[in-house]
Amino acid sequence: MRIGSGPTPSKTPRQLDFSSNLQPHLPPIDPHSSPAMASKLFSVPRVGRQLAHQLPKPQYRAFSAGSQRFSDSLSVHRNKPNNNPTLPFKFSEQNLTLADEILKRYPPQYKKAAVMPLLDLGQRQHGFTSISVMNEVARMLEMPPMRVYEVATFYTMYNREPVGKYFVQICTTTPCQLGGCGSTAIVKAITEHLGITPGHTTEDGLFTYIEVECLGACVNAPMVQINDDYYEDLTPESIKTILTALKDAATATGAGAGTKIPAPGPASGRDTCENSAGLTNLTEVVWNPETMMRKDNALDAAPKQ
Ligand code: FES
Repeated sequence: MRIGSGPTPSKTPRQLDFSSNLQPHLPPIDPHSSPAMASKLFSVPRVGRQLAHQLPKPQYRAFSAGSQRFSDSLSVHRNKPNNNPTLPFKFSEQNLTLADEILKRYPPQYKKAAVMPLLDLGQRQHGFTSISVMNEVARMLEMPPMRVYEVATFYTMYNREPVGKYFVQICTTTPCQLGGCGSTAIVKAITEHLGITPGHTTEDGLFTYIEVECLGACVNAPMVQINDDYYEDLTPESIKTILTALKDAATATGAGAGTKIPAPGPASGRDTCENSAGLTNLTEVVWNPETMMRKDNALDAAPKQ
């Protein structure tokens, strides 16, 4: 008997799937029918999508509160009026002196190793790492510009778009999510206070606010980095106080120009990262060098054998 001969089943498995279970209103699909039926076959993915939408959604908190940064936003440059290669960039006299100092750290034949500190210097001068900053660094280090672009697009500390006067980076990695009041409460407080969500800049251009991974101050969680400073052991109230003080300092004129900005570090009052519960062990001297160590010349005084 030829394979495939014999009585034709009344319904193929595909017909059973889609005519009886998933889409009861669809007519049975005859695989030997006219080409017009092909369009029905192509509707199968759409049927799947429709059903997927009807399934109950899992309840979970997203890992990231910020806007997703897709790979092209991280690595692709598009010319813009404020960021294109025709805009000139030169290091200031002061920064040229600093650049010379940096270059002295490396053997002349390896001066391209200075690409990261020079990009950082350019970012500090220009406000962000524009394509012109990258090109100037490539020129100074005699590197192909593409090699500099590769570095600048790999490391997220290089902002390739302008940011506000205060660049607020909130850590939402697990220790910060769990420590103290938790970074979720801080994200909420900043969002409410600034009126923007992570990944955006306030209309007055003062604050850019993004969500980042661990900044290495987990023991003082939750924390944010604002420009070069760490503010730690935060509460929703303390972060709002800091942001208000920064805004006042930036906008105050005349008598109010001396607005005091809270000092960086733990907002809880503890010193650096000491135990917030106080001293809990090693509360007494267990090893006293005065009584437990041999005195100088003690061997000389011992009777000779
Ligand atoms: S997890 Fe936030 S600083 Fe490490």
